[in-house]
Amino acid sequence: MARTNFLIIAAATALLAGNAGAVDNGLAITPQMGWDNWNALGCDVSEDLLVETANLIVDYGLKDLGYHYVVLDDCWSVGRNASNNNSLIADPEKFPRGMAAVAEDIHELGLGFGMYSSAGKYTCGGYAGSLGYEELDANTWAEWGVDYLKYDNCYNEGQAGDQKISEARYATMAKALNATGRPILYSLCNWGEDYPWNWGSTIANSWRITGDVFDFWDTYDARCPCEGADSWDCSLPGFHCSITNIMNKAAFVVSKAQPGGWNDLDMLEVGNGAMTDTEYVAHFSMWAAVKSPLIMGNDIRTILPSDLSILSNAAVIAVNQDPLGSSASRRWMRVPDSRDPYSGPALQLWSGSLKSTTDGDHNDMLVLMINGLDEATTMNATLADIFADSGPNGKAPQIQMSWEVRDLWANRMSNATAMGIISASNATGNATTGWNATTYGGEGRYNATKMSYADGLAEKNELLLGNVTMTVQAGGMISAIVEAHGVAMYRLRYAGGDVKRKRDEL
Ligand code: GAL
Repeated sequence: MARTNFLIIAAATALLAGNAGAVDNGLAITPQMGWDNWNALGCDVSEDLLVETANLIVDYGLKDLGYHYVVLDDCWSVGRNASNNNSLIADPEKFPRGMAAVAEDIHELGLGFGMYSSAGKYTCGGYAGSLGYEELDANTWAEWGVDYLKYDNCYNEGQAGDQKISEARYATMAKALNATGRPILYSLCNWGEDYPWNWGSTIANSWRITGDVFDFWDTYDARCPCEGADSWDCSLPGFHCSITNIMNKAAFVVSKAQPGGWNDLDMLEVGNGAMTDTEYVAHFSMWAAVKSPLIMGNDIRTILPSDLSILSNAAVIAVNQDPLGSSASRRWMRVPDSRDPYSGPALQLWSGSLKSTTDGDHNDMLVLMINGLDEATTMNATLADIFADSGPNGKAPQIQMSWEVRDLWANRMSNATAMGIISASNATGNATTGWNATTYGGEGRYNATKMSYADGLAEKNELLLGNVTMTVQAGGMISAIVEAHGVAMYRLRYAGGDVKRKRDEL
């Protein structure tokens, strides 16, 4: 009886969650994708940078893969105009044609335009902030044609320290954005202060969960102080946070991700040059798996083929854009010696449900084995661990089934192809034959602007499914040699062997 009640409640909750979504602006039903200048370029912003980058996003096929928003970060204004209602003025040297013209160029390419401000007196770079000017600024951005707001937390005049206070400050802007009538994606950036995962989903499409990311894998930096088992409770988010530091903080709040509202692990560092290719692959995989927004943070004008190939992996992006919108969770963390797994590099198993690409009754399953150690290591993941959520202590029914294991990195684009795409770009002026869609953009590359990831998955598009590497039999396990600071990332697909779940159980 108790079990039946539980099932009824679970089904009702799932229905509610499915219908309600998060903030009611209809945006970010899957995590937003795009580019932001901050990680690579800081305050060095201009209209040329934005327009050139937007063109490259199109030419390099990144738009087709789903990267949609071109986001201008901090340092774009010269203050407020006292003779015009105090409205914000775009820096005329950096943006001589004005922001509306930039928005128009970006829109003409079929992309969205994002901007930045702070829920404070000043932005973090010391420019005019929007606290107290929410309605005015939201209207200005809507007039300019802005589609996305990243909203920071600097100089908040002490209006923090309590969930209600922070929520109220951010809700003022949410209301102002909604009142403009223009759909503006709301990306909240208060670095995890006052637990935004508890209230962010009611007002925003995403919320940063940590201090600023930095381009290193696991380097310790005292300015990003919270590590370990209680690092989610971080009263000093800081900055210069490593990939593994952020990954650890994400582990505790993964269940808060949902269609329309996502945990934001911060912008990608792929391509910024200080990590190895293996580390960038693991970083990108992880961000995709926990349904973080995928906002490229590199200078696209100087992108290397190897980085373009990471950012172009449609099989991994399809995980991020999966219609279930359910984040992977950490199943275990292990170390080869007896130390505390939180006190240094560890091996980690993450898994999570993906929408079925087989019979509809059996969800696919994502598996990530992450090797934080400094040497290549053989890692094993049992079906019991992978499916632990469906029944602890080896009770999950999926353990009695067999699973096709597909490597999501096996079909990574070669550097030669990526180089070809870069040299064929019109936007760089390198093009010999113009945009070569047949060779570089057509066959072999996924186009999410023509067919959504949801539809592509429903059609079992091979570009999204990775490469079959093995079948794991009932009761079995997956074993892989994982490179140091690397990942093995698989999609498991049902391959038979169980009694189908009875519909009337629901
Ligand atoms: C930080 C924010 C960064 C960047 C920067 C701009 O607070 O987390 O992503 O926007 O401000 O000054």
